[in-house]
Amino acid sequence: MSIDIAKAETNFMHLYNREVCFVKGEDVYLYDDAGKKYLDFAAGIAVNALGYSNDEFKNAVKDQVDKLIHTSNLYFNEPSIKATEYITKFSRLDKVFFTNSGTEAVEGALKLARKYAYNKNSNSKGEIIAMNHSFHGRSMGAVSVTGTEHYRTPFEPLIGGVKFADYNDLDSVKALITDETCAIIMETVQGEGGLTPANEDFIKGVRALCDEHDICMILDEIQCGMGRTGYMYAYERYGIKPDIMTTAKALGCGLPIGAFVANAKVGEAMVPGDHGTTYGGNPLATAACCKVFEIFEKENIIEHVKEISAYFDEALNGLMNRHSDKVESLRGVGLMRGLALIDEVKAGDIVKECLDKGVVVIVAGGNVLRMVPPLVIEKEHVDEVIKVLDEVL
Ligand SMILES: Cc1ncc(COP(=O)(O)O)c(C=O)c1O
Repeated sequence: MSIDIAKAETNFMHLYNREVCFVKGEDVYLYDDAGKKYLDFAAGIAVNALGYSNDEFKNAVKDQVDKLIHTSNLYFNEPSIKATEYITKFSRLDKVFFTNSGTEAVEGALKLARKYAYNKNSNSKGEIIAMNHSFHGRSMGAVSVTGTEHYRTPFEPLIGGVKFADYNDLDSVKALITDETCAIIMETVQGEGGLTPANEDFIKGVRALCDEHDICMILDEIQCGMGRTGYMYAYERYGIKPDIMTTAKALGCGLPIGAFVANAKVGEAMVPGDHGTTYGGNPLATAACCKVFEIFEKENIIEHVKEISAYFDEALNGLMNRHSDKVESLRGVGLMRGLALIDEVKAGDIVKECLDKGVVVIVAGGNVLRMVPPLVIEKEHVDEVIKVLDEVL
């Protein structure tokens, strides 16, 4: 039986234009309420890295439900302790604070950078440099550093002291630095803004500027982290480390969890009373997080992403060549890929047609068709998505 979409919509604030109701996931496929099967190349927006049939993951979550779901941060809990060990090991950073979402991780990162500056100079204006076309979330601080007007304008006044530079343009960043700057925030690979990776010279240049001025480099790895680019964190590719990193999405593979993570010097800037959360890092979410890392290690997920993304890349290049009248360029890296379409072909229309044909893809800004599949996809799934995109384009 299918749900009545119009009726269902009446009780929701209308913030999404949606037409499909998924009821079940299996392998890398979703099923809607009418039983139709879809190949999932969106993974709940880069969340479901392990797909839908990892029994070990599901059992770990079920076991934790039976043991202990929540205690608050007034007490330690075992899964969160273990989760910090995984995160510090893979990020090569030192201090973790758990949140419930990506946007909260960004809020925390901004507060931490401001507190670090405040500790050095209590009159610091705490200016932040962010990037045009960035996306960091929907809460006020995150919107304040998001470089897309339509997400910002209706909600002004936002937090003060934020300036926008151009991504991959180091001179534009240099031009904005003052003695009052406390942080430069950017995604290692811009996601929502159109699947643009940082150039090596740019990211290394930002790292050097932050060192020179003793300000915090904040890398948002919420979408591009957790293996998606073929590295656990996308910044590894450049041989650099941020002062603060934000992570979420695939960190819990569907359980709501995020974190901001810092090096020891910056991570010690906040003290009891400066920040907190009721749910963040609860045993259920962190048990899921631990299992995600355990499975990543055991099943060599990162190696798999490297291999499968080379195959995906070749297939996407072929697709682009066959449809060069409609596809302007191929974007992104690893399993975070996009097709930038000509103005006359709307990414939203392609998404709809793909859904009709049983394939889930999504849009990104700048008329880009975005594909962020589960990291466990195989060649046959790449072939399937390319076949449908060939037909639709
Ligand atoms: C790069 C980036 N930062 C932050 C966020 C916000 O995360 P959340 O939706 O979990 O709050 C997103 C979400 O898409 C994102 O892609």
